[in-house]
Amino acid sequence: MNKFSRIGFILAAAGSAVGLGNIWRFPYITGEYGGGAFILVYLLAILFIGLTVFLAEAVIGQNGQSDVSTSFVSISKTKNQNWKFAGFMVATGLIILSFYSVVLGWILDYVITSFSDLPTEAKVAGANFEKLISDDIGSLIVYHTLIAGSVILIVLKGIKEGIEKINLILMPLLGLILIGLLVYALTLDSFSQAVSFMFTPDFSKIDGHALLAALGQAFFTLSLGVGTILTYSASLPKEANFVKSSFMVAIVDTSIALVAGLIIFSFLFAAGAESAAGPGLVFISLPVIFSGWGILGQIIAVSFFVALVFAGITSAVSMIEPSLRFFIERFKITRAKATLLCGGTFYVLGIVALLSMSKSFGAELTFFGKNAFDIMDFMSSSVMMPIAAMLICIFLGFFVEKEVLKEKFTKHTSETIFNIWYFLIRFVVPIAIIILFLNKLGAI
Ligand code: PHE
Repeated sequence: MNKFSRIGFILAAAGSAVGLGNIWRFPYITGEYGGGAFILVYLLAILFIGLTVFLAEAVIGQNGQSDVSTSFVSISKTKNQNWKFAGFMVATGLIILSFYSVVLGWILDYVITSFSDLPTEAKVAGANFEKLISDDIGSLIVYHTLIAGSVILIVLKGIKEGIEKINLILMPLLGLILIGLLVYALTLDSFSQAVSFMFTPDFSKIDGHALLAALGQAFFTLSLGVGTILTYSASLPKEANFVKSSFMVAIVDTSIALVAGLIIFSFLFAAGAESAAGPGLVFISLPVIFSGWGILGQIIAVSFFVALVFAGITSAVSMIEPSLRFFIERFKITRAKATLLCGGTFYVLGIVALLSMSKSFGAELTFFGKNAFDIMDFMSSSVMMPIAAMLICIFLGFFVEKEVLKEKFTKHTSETIFNIWYFLIRFVVPIAIIILFLNKLGAI
């Protein structure tokens, strides 16, 4: 049977969770929202909201042992076939993967260029980055093809031989690189500055936007709302402790985000650089700092960007798996055919995304003032993910027998934990998501 081993599941789910969201996005939004207080809110969002939805996906998946659609129907009270439409969420993973692969392509370029030359000035670094994403179509297509090709080859091999194996290799390597970078950061005087930036809360910096950013980040980083955790849990042996595994994944994911933050802020503060540089933080600010450290800087630069690629690849494979499983189970096609279909779709969408950022095709691929790349980003993380997460909560809270859920949870944990979870999933999380959703749509 094509199933994860227990440790394989934890590694693969952690591999999915730990991605560009941790090493690229978390530090820059923490920087933008001023550090400590934002991190505190983020940790609360992970614990009470992210983990709640994570457990929700895990219980549906482990119970169903099938794709998103089938698993929804099979755990529902009435077994109403209409629950199969929850399967729409697998499309979100493909959309995210389209532009995620393009961003991984940029990082591949940084791995390569870090070997030869690093920019010494922020202006040059900014211009290099701009040139890469808007002008260098040929290279971008090659990089996207390499990333997409690797993702396709990995998932083609299946859960055990493909996904579990790649995580077994890449996750420890990622851990080693991060430990190496952390040790180096520890030797810098700026390390203590990074610690106090990240762990001294200044609540004056927290407003509604910061709260919502923390919530959105909690969803994205735990890979929620696209059926990934549900689908991975469907390959978890039926008797495995999904509660413990879920907590472990959340702990690993959060620790890695914090470590990445400590590394990056130590580097930035060592050079007296801005912490609020936005998305360009790792693409523009860091290379300039590395260039000041000579050959060691080059080694650090290459390791850092390789770590990003490793983290990203293990997330990328988890974005396509829900749709593969969906086609395999619902349409009874082979994994190879499903991979061809889904892989082809995200590959083509990725080309559209990367062209839409270019000078030559940008105008044609811009609609309602947003280019195709931004539209895919917005549709997936601001519209489809919250809708799916909401659906999962309402579904489990009101359309699944409470006793069934209770029985599944209390096999592995106390009744109190179950009651807290059940309250959160029925009331707290849906309200938080509605507020997040309306805000992202610009309604509040
Ligand atoms: N959690 C991944 C990251 O932090 C992104 C992701 C989103 C992966 C949705 C799978 C599904 O980069």
